[in-house]
Amino acid sequence: MSAMNQDQLKANVGRRAASYIEPNLTAKSVIGVGTGSTANYFIDALADSKNKFYGAVASSEATADRLNHYGIRVYDLNEFDEILYYIDGADESNGNLELIKGGGGALTREKIVASVAREFICIIDESKQVNVLGSFPLPVEVIPMARSAVARKLVGLGGQPVYRHDFVTDNGNVILDVHGLDMSNPTKVEDSINGLPGVVTQGLFAKRPADLLLVARKSGDVDEVRRQAAF
Ligand code: 5RP
Repeated sequence: MSAMNQDQLKANVGRRAASYIEPNLTAKSVIGVGTGSTANYFIDALADSKNKFYGAVASSEATADRLNHYGIRVYDLNEFDEILYYIDGADESNGNLELIKGGGGALTREKIVASVAREFICIIDESKQVNVLGSFPLPVEVIPMARSAVARKLVGLGGQPVYRHDFVTDNGNVILDVHGLDMSNPTKVEDSINGLPGVVTQGLFAKRPADLLLVARKSGDVDEVRRQAAF
């Protein structure tokens, strides 16, 4: 078989995620669904199983629209204490399954839904596996009036923030994409940025990394990488 292109890899891993969760779905199961092109392929693959589970919580308006299109029931997260799975793509993953997310700007809702999921399954193609996070600029969602103040603080932390022009998040905020941060300790960076007044959240998923990473390879294989428990 010839090597797959990136779209084919994303479709392949989306299908794998759907077949991974499908045997565990029951009429009471609620799943969280991420945002982006890889998550879209997952939704497409999930559509056939829509009557096997209760419904979904969406991490963005775009994802809610796609779920609705297939007739998958979409619920408000406030209705549930916990959800079974959260399935989403990422922009980068390191070997500890710590992630950078938010290329599509849905990071805050993604982080909220991931935080209440029993298992977070991250789906990527092999180009997104890195040794050290940070080649992909870190998205930071900011309250509009704090944009310049937060940008100055981010420079103080060693980053170079770039305002994402003509983009407003589903929550009515703006995004700064931060280049050049030292990511040798992702949890420390996450804490530092979360503490800045005006920051809603940022796209580092180090305190709540993925539990399972599915990686689509050009060979056609999909690797399963499970996070090792920290000691
Ligand atoms: C959206 C995200 C996406 O998961 C991330 O940007 C990857 O997107 P894609 O699957 O389109 O490559 O975090 O906010």
